[in-house]
Order: sequence, then structure tokens, then C-alpha cells
Amino acid sequence: MTAVATAVPAERIAAAVQGERLWQRLMAMARYGETAGGGVNRQALSPEDIAARGQLIGWARARGFRVFGDAIGNLFVRREGTDPSLPPVVSGSHLDSQPAGGRFDGAFGVLAAFECLEAFDDLGLVHRHPIEMVAWTNEEGSRFAPGAMGSMVYSGALPLDRALDATDATGMSARDALAAVSAATVDIEPRKLGTPISAYLEAHIEQGPILEAAGLPIGVVTGIQGARWFEITVEGATAHAGTTPLASRRDAFQAAHRIIAALNEALADPAGPTGPTRLTIGRFELEPGSVNSVPALARFSIDLRHPDSGQLQALAVRVEEIAATLAAPCTAACKPLLTIPARRFPDRVVDLVAGASQSLRLASMRLPSGAFHDAQFIAELCPTGMIFIPSRDGLSHNEAEYSSPEEIFTGARVLAVALAELAASIESSWKA
Ligand code: GLV
Ligand code: MN
Ligand code: MN
Repeated sequence: MTAVATAVPAERIAAAVQGERLWQRLMAMARYGETAGGGVNRQALSPEDIAARGQLIGWARARGFRVFGDAIGNLFVRREGTDPSLPPVVSGSHLDSQPAGGRFDGAFGVLAAFECLEAFDDLGLVHRHPIEMVAWTNEEGSRFAPGAMGSMVYSGALPLDRALDATDATGMSARDALAAVSAATVDIEPRKLGTPISAYLEAHIEQGPILEAAGLPIGVVTGIQGARWFEITVEGATAHAGTTPLASRRDAFQAAHRIIAALNEALADPAGPTGPTRLTIGRFELEPGSVNSVPALARFSIDLRHPDSGQLQALAVRVEEIAATLAAPCTAACKPLLTIPARRFPDRVVDLVAGASQSLRLASMRLPSGAFHDAQFIAELCPTGMIFIPSRDGLSHNEAEYSSPEEIFTGARVLAVALAELAASIESSWKA
């Protein structure tokens, strides 16, 4: 049976998507790095990530799809188009997770794209462009900073060597961790970084409360807010807790505390706590870490988000100023770890996603993304968009993260219709 994508009604494409198969695959994937609390700890380039990649490659090979990999470990699975010389339409997300992450962040987008490839195969769909699933390396950034590492390197936003030089908390480099991944995933065809892509669509859980509150199954993503990460290291001197007068201490914790209090005040959103500015300190360490010694070193992370790139930049400047001026008598160094500019997706892709949803008679709303995604960088290379499904209680980066089988299935059906349309029709005249 063959069906030419341009002539196939949306309902028929969507009917080829198998919700049960997709859900089973998601649950199988969630076993790699599963936690006692029902979530996932599958940090980038870890043994759990290697096992998850092996599983995906196994499924792809069983289906006869070709598998490609690039120098940063991004993984591509391809279904051929009638014109193999055309750049592929690509869809996917990431398989790595937060240390106390959920089963759906990233995995949904990868496996929904894989389900689309299988559905198109089952249907015998004929499309001009090849269609590929991608699993980007290290989107989360919790082990190796920056996050979105695979898509940043692929798109040229981060030099490969700088990414590979990143180290984790144990001092292991991404280079060494990636070598272990490569050794375990053999016979992958090489793919050059930056190989052209004709269009990119990423399906993802919303990770926030908006769709659930609106009672809508589909979010048509209009863009993504900007993000900045810093690591602040405050250096003082250790001393005896019982004998050293406060006046002669260089206490790194107290200096860090002053800096954080000033950041909370200076970066407070003018609209109050419901406003768009988001400041998070997610990691904080002290050395030597002893009850009865004054801390000599405090190191903490800053995650800063704002939808407006100009305002985000102004807030980032304040972070650097405050760290530099409030550390005395200690010293503070402020190391930038990640810069992701805010991104608006092209209307044409946004409209195409909205149209795919409408063609299946599904209600949707347009909304921006609060979380960053690989799509933010791939948008530099080609027309890009995203599809959201609801997250229960708006929870994500949490073991309790959940989207129902029905919500997962619905998102995958919309993705299938949008991908088929892109693969049939996208022309080089489309501008990113
Ligand atoms: C992605 O995981 C983010 O932190 O937005
Ligand atoms: Mn994600
Ligand atoms: Mn995430």
C-alpha cells in the first residue's frame, strides 16, 4: 500500500499513529534510569543515557531505518523520501533527564517523532523529503553545562571543543563521557554537524500550567523566552568557628548570602511574583563543608529567564555587578555558562501546526514556551515550530511529571499531520 503525502487526508495520516505502541515505548524508555519515586534520572552521556540510546537504535534497526550520529552524539533515524537529495524534515527532542526528572520531558518528543516514522511506514506514505527523528545530546545541562548542548553545537552556536571540554561534578569531561557513548553505540553512519535541515518540529510536554487550566489538548508554540546561566564562585578563607571574631572573618557563605539577597531585590519583576522575570538558584555548595569551620568557598548557580532579550541582558548585567560589588571582604567570580536568546517561531510554521490541529478538529491555543528547547537553536537553521501537550498540575523537572496516554496520543497525531505536510510540500523559498 502506498499513499502520496500531498493527497492523503489528515484523518488518514493521524489514524496510522498507534497510541498504545507509543505509550508502551515511553514506559519502556522510562525504565532507563528509573527512580524509586516514579521518575527518571538519566543524565546526559551516563550509562543510563547509553542504554536508552541503545534501545532507540534497536527499535530503529528492527524497523529497517538508517541511523546516523554526529560528533556531539546527536542521533538521527531516517525514513527516506522520494528525493533523497533534499534536506530532511526533522522532528525530535532529547532523551537525557534532570537528576530528579520525569518520564516525559524530552522522551515524549523523541518517541512521538519515532512513532510518526513508523506510522508513515505502516501507511506506505510517500513524501518528497526524507523525514528524520532526532535525539539531541544533553538538552538538560544538569550534568554538563550548557544545556541544549547538542543543538547548540549542531547549529554552530557553540564550538565543538568548548562543549567537549565541559566537566561534570566529578571532573569527568564531556569528551570522555561521549567516547563511552560512541564505544557502546556502534555501526552508526556519520552525519556532519550542521548538515542542512529543511524544517524542524519539536513536540514536547508544556511543563507549565496553561493548557491544563484552559482545558485544551494542544498548544501551538509561538516562541521561547530567553535564558542565561551563571556560576558564581565566592572565595574567602576558612577559620575556626569558635575562636575567630566575626570582624576578622572572610566568610564565603555570608558573602554569597548578601549577593543572593541583593539579587532577589534588584531582579524582582516590576509586576510582582506573577511577572515574567524568573530567577532560580538551583545549586549551592560550600567548602570545606564542616559545621565548625568558616566556609572558604561558596559556589552557586543562577538561572535567569525573561521573554524579552533586551531586558534579559539588562538583568544579566545586574547579576555581574552585584556579584562584583557585594562580595567584600571575599572575592567573587561570575562565569557565564549559557546564553539563549528569546526566539519567535515563523508565522508560517505556527499556522501550519494550528492548521494540523484544526484538521483533526482539535481545539488549541497559541502560547510561548517558558522552558528552553533545542528548537531555539535549530530555528537558526530552518523554519521551526513546536507542539505542546498538557502537563498535569503544570509539573515538570519533577518525578511526578505526567501527561495521560490520550494527551500523548493526541500530540503525536497532530505531529504526524504537520510532519507529513512539511515533508510533502516545504519548498526552499521558505525562510527561517
Ligand atoms: C530546559 O530543561 C529548561 O531548563 O528550560
Ligand atoms: Mn525538555
Ligand atoms: Mn527539561
